[in-house]
Amino acid sequence: MTDTTLDPAIADLVRGAAWVTVCSGAGMSAESNVPTFRDAETGLWERFDPTELATPQAWSRDSAMVWAWYQWRAKLVRSTTPNPGHVALAEWADRRTVMVVTQNVDDLHERAGSAVTAHLHGSLFEPRCSHCDLPYSGIDADPEVATETLRVQPPSCPRCLSEVRPGVVWFGEPLPSHAWERAADAAAGCDLLIVVGTSGIVYPAASLPERALAAGIPVIEINPEPTPLSSLVTHFMQTTAAVGLPALLQEVPPAG
Ligand code: OAD
Repeated sequence: MTDTTLDPAIADLVRGAAWVTVCSGAGMSAESNVPTFRDAETGLWERFDPTELATPQAWSRDSAMVWAWYQWRAKLVRSTTPNPGHVALAEWADRRTVMVVTQNVDDLHERAGSAVTAHLHGSLFEPRCSHCDLPYSGIDADPEVATETLRVQPPSCPRCLSEVRPGVVWFGEPLPSHAWERAADAAAGCDLLIVVGTSGIVYPAASLPERALAAGIPVIEINPEPTPLSSLVTHFMQTTAAVGLPALLQEVPPAG
């Protein structure tokens, strides 16, 4: 956004919303230097084939390659810090009810101080047994050992000795049902939904703003590029997360 003046209609919406639900995607963390998936040149899916890394079939075929790739991503995320967009959402929650529903598997919302309502696609930092689902916290799951290309044998589950897998959702897998239920409730109950940094093409996450709009809830989208949702939302802000969210927060008076 080169013009930093906020549309008065957007400012009114933001001021009047007691409960805001935010649906974030990879663009939320782009200004923290975490690559998105589909941005030209910098997106992960420009350099890596999702079918070889983010599917149950890929895991069955070559678990050491998949494990190493997710550990590399976890290590990368560890080296980054939340950006002003993450920080604005955490501050917003001191003033109003803010529920963060994210497709991101990083922990930047939490590190900025937000309590995340739902990680729809899981987390890089919650590996679990691929067979019995026992959460795994052994030191051999430490991402510091990972590099981008190295194959790393996944650790074994202490209970059933099966391989430990990344705690993320792969293509073809259902979302964790508790996370999905919390996300659907957060989107259905809010006064204002903000969609930020997602291409809006991966379902069911992409259905949350559609459902909100159908229920008459205003939706603001923040994205430097138009998406399939942009022509449907109440307001499209063509800007980045680290610029747009702090600009919105300025309209929210401190609580009390
Ligand atoms: P994408 O990579 O598909 O989309 C990122 C979006 O962020 C694009 O619309 C960009 O224009 C936008 N963007 C880029 N920089 C931005 C910035 N600084 N501020 C705001 N927006 C910015 O990422 P997602 O929509 O999150 O799933 O992808 C959805 C899912 O597809 C991911 O969770 C992942 C991926 O494959 C799985 O791996 C299962």
